[in-house]
Amino acid sequence: MDARLLKMEAARAALAHVEAGMVIGIGTGSTAEEFIRLLAAAVADGMPVTGVPTSERTAIMCRELGIPLTTLDDVPHLAMTVDGADEVDTQLRLIKGGGGALLREKIVAAASDSMIVIADETKLVDRLGRFPLPIEVNRFGLAATQMAVLKASEKLGLSGRIVLRMAEGTPFLTDGGHYILDASFGLIHDPRALSDALHAIPGVVEHGMFLDFADVAIIAGKSGVKTIK
Ligand code: 5RP
Repeated sequence: MDARLLKMEAARAALAHVEAGMVIGIGTGSTAEEFIRLLAAAVADGMPVTGVPTSERTAIMCRELGIPLTTLDDVPHLAMTVDGADEVDTQLRLIKGGGGALLREKIVAAASDSMIVIADETKLVDRLGRFPLPIEVNRFGLAATQMAVLKASEKLGLSGRIVLRMAEGTPFLTDGGHYILDASFGLIHDPRALSDALHAIPGVVEHGMFLDFADVAIIAGKSGVKTIK
């Protein structure tokens, strides 16, 4: 079974959690896009659902496919959000931000009663850190922030390359107009300590570890779909 089919299977299982009348957060990335396609088909069949997109990319796709959208300003409390992830561990801790939308994804997930993560089995890990950790940073003071991130990680016994994410030869810009540092620390033994240390750096806007966000992970693999709660 190819990766796209697995993503579709996970997305299909998540759609079963969507109820008529809900306002839901809609994630970003290729797995979330499978969910968006299925949700659009349900909306076309008459299911009344409204979405809050977690990125401009997701908003464009939802509009093209006819999913009604609103914003967190109009609806600040959501029933749930459905999103992909770059890594999921067995305690439902995540690394997100491979698609650069981590800040809005985290804001939307925090505003939701529950977060359902959809992923193929390649995303399931014993311990976070194989995927480089995306860290969204203010453009002002980039070098100082990068040095502070390095020092903070070294204090926690982590080391590795921290690189500025690029896109077509220029620094990648998030929807919020920030840069992303991708930090290859290796396995993260204490995600909470790293999270606290990163949050203490003024130039860090947000990082891609979602530690107390996910309620359910729907993982699709060759032998079927499993749910971690
Ligand atoms: C975007 C994200 C995505 O959810 C994450 O990168 C997974 O993407 P994909 O489903 O394409 O593997 O966090 O910021």
